[in-house]
Amino acid sequence: MADKLIIGNWKMNTRRDSGKALIDALSASDITNQPWVGVAVPTVYLAQAAECLKGSRIALSSQDVSRFDKDGAFTGEVSAAMLKDAGCAYALVGHSERRQYFAEGNDALLSKMRHAIAAGVTPVLCVGETLEEREAGRYLDVVFSQLAILSELTAGDYVIAYEPVWAIGTGKVASLEQIAEIHSAIKNWCLQNAKASDKIRVLYGGSVKAENAESILATENVDGALVGGASLDADSFRMICQAAGKLI
Ligand code: 13P
Repeated sequence: MADKLIIGNWKMNTRRDSGKALIDALSASDITNQPWVGVAVPTVYLAQAAECLKGSRIALSSQDVSRFDKDGAFTGEVSAAMLKDAGCAYALVGHSERRQYFAEGNDALLSKMRHAIAAGVTPVLCVGETLEEREAGRYLDVVFSQLAILSELTAGDYVIAYEPVWAIGTGKVASLEQIAEIHSAIKNWCLQNAKASDKIRVLYGGSVKAENAESILATENVDGALVGGASLDADSFRMICQAAGKLI
């Protein structure tokens, strides 16, 4: 089985001290060997996190990237080149909270994917349906329409994270059958419609915790996890990473 990728998305949490303490606790624990681990920290703390992660195998991720790539008059924006310069290996793109609160749609997200790839930062494209869309039986159409931008990319490495909106921060987890169905559908879609390699990784996100991580990560076509709340607690995140390590 290939190595799993586990990324902790801190969202708009932590301060300078608590973020450093979290990274120090993770670096001191045994998760640095296997599997692949990353932390997506708030932009303002990326440089500090990069410093704390020196010599560690834990990768740094941003939570977003600008849709603009040229330096210039884009107040408040952070470009892919800046993220690369700050030490980011990954950038989250199109998280459902960005789609919901910042109206990010496919045009902007395609630019973000392109710029991240061009800068050598691996984008993690987040997709997923709302509860209403799930209950109306439209979840596959919704996810495929979010994936559509991948057919516009000519090449490049990227990761996909399937995060059903109804499972984010709610404690409700998609069933293993639901996860298996959609992960397989996402991979098939990518193979048919995008120039994705057959090694494309699809992570699951939505209320992943120490208690449910092993069964989720053992599900077919689940190549890792994008972890929100549980990544803010070093012990919980370490246990999730260890669950992934057992499956390698
Ligand atoms: P929770 O793990 O808190 O449900 O969040 C998932 C998520 O949105 C990760 O990006």
